[in-house]
Amino acid sequence: MASVTYRAVDKIYGDGLHAVRQLSLDIPDGAFTVLVGPSGCGKTTALRMCAGLEEISGGELLVGGEVINRLDPGKRDVAMVFQNYALYPHMSVFENIAFPLRATHVPAAEIKTRVERVIELLDLREHAKRKPGNLSGGQRQRVAMGRAIVRQPKVFLMDEPLSNLDAKLRVQMRAEISQLQHELGVTTLYVTHDQTEAMTMGSQMAVMRKGVLQQAGAPQDIYNDPANLFVAEFVGSPAMTLFAGHTELDNGRTVLVLGQQRLELAEGALARHPAVGRNNGRRVVVGIRPEHMQPPGAADSGRARLRGKVTLVEPLGPQQLVHVDVEAEPVVSDAVLEIAGDGDAEAGRANRRGTAAVRAVAAFDSRVNVQAGSEIELAIPTEELHFFDPDTGMALRG
Ligand SMILES: Nc1ncnc2c1ncn2[C@@H]1O[C@H](COP(=O)(O)OP(=O)(O)OP(=O)(O)O)[C@@H](O)[C@H]1O
Ligand SMILES: [Mg+2]
Repeated sequence: MASVTYRAVDKIYGDGLHAVRQLSLDIPDGAFTVLVGPSGCGKTTALRMCAGLEEISGGELLVGGEVINRLDPGKRDVAMVFQNYALYPHMSVFENIAFPLRATHVPAAEIKTRVERVIELLDLREHAKRKPGNLSGGQRQRVAMGRAIVRQPKVFLMDEPLSNLDAKLRVQMRAEISQLQHELGVTTLYVTHDQTEAMTMGSQMAVMRKGVLQQAGAPQDIYNDPANLFVAEFVGSPAMTLFAGHTELDNGRTVLVLGQQRLELAEGALARHPAVGRNNGRRVVVGIRPEHMQPPGAADSGRARLRGKVTLVEPLGPQQLVHVDVEAEPVVSDAVLEIAGDGDAEAGRANRRGTAAVRAVAAFDSRVNVQAGSEIELAIPTEELHFFDPDTGMALRG
């Protein structure tokens, strides 16, 4: 096994497109890191450079402390699992898994033991003689995994291996892959554009935008403390609601002004975000997670109130998503619109056209009675608010 380290890695394609910029990322030995971001942000490119399928334009890529920039792909000891599985249709499951070993002239007896062990591990025993065409999507996915595992590589590289599966199978397989990676302990770099996969699967999450790494860390830390507006909006489902507003000093207390509404910030909010209290009068972007907008009542004295009109209620079982139009200024920076348009700010702008109010999405317990069309006052624990600089998009910290 081995760690993987990107040191200021660049990729510039032949046509001049700068697909990955100064990527620095460390994947410790045995860790599971998920690289996530919208379409075209450079995830596959970053992975292919590690596999040796794409030349590295600048910087250094290390596996196990050794620079591999110029090392032959066949000697890198990394195994890649592709989105389309790339199985051989005329070969049985056994032969598909055995293929990389045959290609490297491993003795037949050893092939048999190693393939059988993998088939056992992946619960494919009943299907060993079948051809890929006669397998379900999930089984095919497992065969593709098997072909990577059987090589006993130092590193697994996986490029959206679940994107061809239906939603239910995807949830099942993501748990299986996490568990398998945990058991095998092989350093893994996993690429997806699905933030839920990124949140749930890895011990580390790395968020990319337009070839640039935005933030890397434990998924929960990134969720709790996103570094900028892009990460804030990308990570979390439903997304954080963003408002453009400003702060004011009112009788010695800092008040957040959103449209016509004034929310007094609690001591705890100012303690967590001293920069907000120091700069009264400045414009800010404020973010609120769905779980921090609650129906008024139960144990919320001291919470600020935000009025709006319920436009839609989506029951999800244990929770309901309550869409509330709040008369305040929406945030329309490219970083935010890109997410609405899956990497394309113009498409995002078109999606959002005609919305003057802010569409807030709150997550309520499903037992709360709430009707579309009604006016509502949301209770907001202001110490849970996120603050960003409207010009730079960076979180206001310190
Ligand atoms: N061979 C190539 N030549 C030139 N440009 C390329 C090449 N491969 C990819 N690109 C461009 O590089 C950028 C990054 O592409 P990449 O495939 O790494 O993105 P991605 O994050 O994997 O996207 P997706 O989620 O759609 O798979 C894109 O703008 C893409 O068009
Ligand atoms: Mg890709």
